[in-house]
Amino acid sequence: MKLSINIDHIATLRNARGGSEPDPVRAAAVCEEAGADGIVVHLREDRRHIRDADVHALRRSVKTRLDLEMGASEEIIGIALQVVPDLVTLVPEKRQELTTEGGLDVAAQRERLRTVTARFHANGIPVSLFVNPEREQIDASRDTGADMIELHTGEYADAPGEPERLHQLQRIREAARYGASLGLGVNAGHGLNYVNVSDVAAVAEIGEMSIGHAVIARAAFTGLDRAVREMLALVRR
Ligand code: PXP
Repeated sequence: MKLSINIDHIATLRNARGGSEPDPVRAAAVCEEAGADGIVVHLREDRRHIRDADVHALRRSVKTRLDLEMGASEEIIGIALQVVPDLVTLVPEKRQELTTEGGLDVAAQRERLRTVTARFHANGIPVSLFVNPEREQIDASRDTGADMIELHTGEYADAPGEPERLHQLQRIREAARYGASLGLGVNAGHGLNYVNVSDVAAVAEIGEMSIGHAVIARAAFTGLDRAVREMLALVRR
């Protein structure tokens, strides 16, 4: 099982003060030193966290794999073709949403996504499609020529009680098995945290998890004690 870390919210924190700290490039290096298999960033149309310069800098600095998450707009496709990430993950994108709300409706835009995928392939860039764990979307993903799917685990993560959680877990298991049976690579992500990750990580057909918010949020607490001690040492010196 591989783990890629989404560092978007390092940029959220940086942008809150308009300066350069904390630096996503440095964050990516820390993740890699800790053993992460890849770095994920979502270049959103509104550039609310990761910006164009970050993506270019990360392309130069990341030593594992850089996964560029993106909506399939012409502007962002153009940037991705310049940057040449190790993987492009296509996601639906709405300006008003706080985070990616659902999977990509691949079935409704099969032809367009086939064309987009072919453009990336012509430039040597593999493509993953972020989809809900549904057969129709997985069949459509295969039809586009995409290399892999990333199963949206948001409904599993948000399940209100244990029966619903188990139901959503079963959907993920079946979707992973189905995707793998079609020859697609299968990743999973969204809303996974230190409590709910293990059951998804145990699904044999899933090759990689993509996790962001929970790790960055935890880092604030695992690092806070030391950060306070370091500042105390300075102010008391
Ligand atoms: N995978 C995809 C396709 C996403 O859009 C996101 C959120 O940016 C994630 C994984 C990571 O989700 P989270 O931040 O909830 O771990």
